[in-house]
Amino acid sequence: MSTPLLFQPISFRSVTARNRIVLAPMCQFSAHDGLGNDWHVQHLGARAAGGAGIVMTEATAVSAVGRITPHCMGLYTQAHQAQLARLAAVISHAGAVPAIQLAHAGRKASAKVPWEGGAPIPVEDGGWVPLAPSNLPAVPGATVPHALTASEIGDVIGQFVATARMARDAGFQIAELHAAHGYLGHSFLSPVSNHRTDAYGGALEGRMRFLMELTEAVRGEWPADLPLWVRLSCTDWVPGGLTIEETVEVSRRLAATGMVDLVDCSSGGLAPNQAIPSLHPGYQVPFAEAVRHRAGIATGAVGLITEPTHAAEIVANGRADVVLLGRALLADPAWPLHAAKALGAPPPLPPQYLRAAL
Ligand code: FNR
Repeated sequence: MSTPLLFQPISFRSVTARNRIVLAPMCQFSAHDGLGNDWHVQHLGARAAGGAGIVMTEATAVSAVGRITPHCMGLYTQAHQAQLARLAAVISHAGAVPAIQLAHAGRKASAKVPWEGGAPIPVEDGGWVPLAPSNLPAVPGATVPHALTASEIGDVIGQFVATARMARDAGFQIAELHAAHGYLGHSFLSPVSNHRTDAYGGALEGRMRFLMELTEAVRGEWPADLPLWVRLSCTDWVPGGLTIEETVEVSRRLAATGMVDLVDCSSGGLAPNQAIPSLHPGYQVPFAEAVRHRAGIATGAVGLITEPTHAAEIVANGRADVVLLGRALLADPAWPLHAAKALGAPPPLPPQYLRAAL
């Protein structure tokens, strides 16, 4: 039996991953002043040693105000870069490709960590004023965000560029722009959160301007031989919100630039009234499939993918190029090793673990 495609190497530009399983970006809410620590070392290190081909950091903010919570990770000082260099090295040493998600929380910034309820933190309680395309709070009662001026948009893009440079110097090999889940990039794309009347709002052409300018600016800094990914929320799951049709168009435009190597296809997270018709295994896979086939760009499928045969089927049938696993890899850092065994593929064991009886 030949090795399933899921466990065959995949290349993006000069970077080759040993298989097509990616640790999804997952906030750990455990940083201080944006600085990661031993928690992040073991979290990412265990999943790299567990056989994932690509291990991605949590949403890593380009500025302090771009953090979701006071305990989100950031990359905007040399101290952050030094800590992230350690994380990139830990991932690489275990045989995985180190990837970093570059993020700005936008109007969802200044929130409590989930295990403290996740509510917005008012400015008077140590929170801060979030930045957004329009002055529309993410949830009723949250601090009204500051609507960015055109020149402030340029400043934020400049912060992404500076962070991309530091990520490169820290040793990351894939950068992903986070434009999903209601955070800044997504909030420009969605008509629900973007009510601007200038060049950055209105019809899709205007709403995608921020993402297109961001992509171009980051690509100018990110080395030409390293891949750049973009995570999108393919639908808002609300009437009048962003649709998969618009996402296919955005993806076409990203593909046409030749600057983006993969669209990571998630959904939702923007509007509190979102209604997902059915949360079944692989419920977002049709988005990855649609973008891949209709926009002609590699895609990542994510969301409730937990079974090895399901992950293998998605890749084998060309529905996506890679699968990203979140919660399944939290529950079992060695999910790829167990999946390899189940599928009859050689387990991606680090040499230190070769004596393990799988
Ligand atoms: C997430 N998710 C997420 N997504 C993202 O783009 N950036 C992030 O930092 C986070 N943070 C995060 C934290 C935690 C604890 C969870 C569980 C999830 C979403 C994640 O990447 C993934 O898209 C979803 O979890 C769906 O995939 P699974 O978990 O069903 O495999």
